[in-house]
Amino acid sequence: MAKQEFGIVGLGVMGQNLALNLASRGFSVAGFDLEQRQADVFAAKTAGRNILTCRTQVEFLGQLAAPRRMLIMVPAGPPVDAVIATLRPRLVRGDLLIDGGNTWFRDTVRRISELEGSGILYIGAGISGGEEGALRGPSIMPGGNPEAWPLVRPILQAMAAKAEDGSPCCEWIGPGGAGHFVKMVHNAIEYADMQMICDAFWLVERLLRLPAAEASRIFAAWNDGELSSYLVGITATILAREDPQTGRPLVDSILDAAGQTGTGKWAGQVSLDLGVAAPTIADAVFMRTLSSLKSERSVASAVLSGPTPAFTGDVTAFVEMIRKALYCSKICAYAQGFQILRAADREYGWRLKLGSISAMWRAGCIIRARFLDEIKAAYEREPALANLLLDGHFASALASYQNDWRQVVAIAAQNGLPVPAFMSALGYYDSYRSDRLPANLLQAQRDYFGAHTYRRIDKEGSFHTEWFA
Ligand code: 6PG
Repeated sequence: MAKQEFGIVGLGVMGQNLALNLASRGFSVAGFDLEQRQADVFAAKTAGRNILTCRTQVEFLGQLAAPRRMLIMVPAGPPVDAVIATLRPRLVRGDLLIDGGNTWFRDTVRRISELEGSGILYIGAGISGGEEGALRGPSIMPGGNPEAWPLVRPILQAMAAKAEDGSPCCEWIGPGGAGHFVKMVHNAIEYADMQMICDAFWLVERLLRLPAAEASRIFAAWNDGELSSYLVGITATILAREDPQTGRPLVDSILDAAGQTGTGKWAGQVSLDLGVAAPTIADAVFMRTLSSLKSERSVASAVLSGPTPAFTGDVTAFVEMIRKALYCSKICAYAQGFQILRAADREYGWRLKLGSISAMWRAGCIIRARFLDEIKAAYEREPALANLLLDGHFASALASYQNDWRQVVAIAAQNGLPVPAFMSALGYYDSYRSDRLPANLLQAQRDYFGAHTYRRIDKEGSFHTEWFA
């Protein structure tokens, strides 16, 4: 009997949908899950398709055609190690494991080195797009043993989303933990994107006092223009949803305390380790943390004072200003994400192709956006671009929109409304474009209390001043 072309270990919703996706593209799949209940659900759901649900690991491994290609879809962390450990005694040279979770990239590096010499190949693949993306076509970011890529390329590229030009949103990222690193940065941009959409929503709701249905129409209109993106689109849909219990907008009934599962935090930590300024990404993580202090904020709201938001002016014109602030902030957040990738590339020698990475994010993934075509074009024009902000297209967009961006931030501050992503992005923009910063004073302070020395603008060398003399 013909053996199955691809195996999936872990039949949660993501694993199930990826299997259905592959089967719909003509590939035969074997699935296995330690939890019998999960496997039974899967077997029932996939009846009549070329998907075989195996009851034991031995059966699963026995049903796979060589080289055995297996995608592990279990929660990141110890469960991945546990799956590898149980499979390991029955694996042979040439078998290929792919971890498709949101794994910390150093864990991928460790797992590759633990398998070194065994002939077992390993790929750490970031997979983005959630449940729906898994079913219809996600963006897939594979990295690891380069010799594994040709063995799975046709399958992963068939499974992946296709950009408008037909190219698959899946290309080889690089060796080691490169795939999972790039997925982590994708998620970090996702955090920033979500926070800045929340900043925009907050001004629409709290300053302009527009109802959720109107906010929904605003986001829907934005989604037809240069802000067109999955996240702006779902925001319009979410804001239009009514709560069946209250008859009011569902968002009004949702607790304002955000969760997180780690990728944004890792990106913040990594940016600090690599010496990359990524303040908007870090602020997006900090805002989730701050939001989760719900009871503390409730107490503080009764103690700490601020202005009562009041808007006077042209609402339609201000909505357009918010749109421009969102667009400018978005450019800065993506610029920061790509700076993290550049620094990691230098540090780890991965030879990342930033143009190809932006191309891979054009469809399937959570940050998919029209905007990514422009980023791809920017890196095609100049692969060694020092910063996305310096690309002609983005520099001129920032030049023409920045007055409105500044006004939005200023008005938000005057009204006591937090728009941390807009503010942080503007601070990044103004700092990055400043030939001179007050770090001269900072260096003097360091030298004053710690004799850290400073450099001068007019001659080479390190200098120290006897400040107490
Ligand atoms: C994706 C998402 C996905 C997941 C994140 C969300 O690309 O499909 O990023 O990976 O939704 O884990 O992360 P938080 O739980 O930290 O928001």
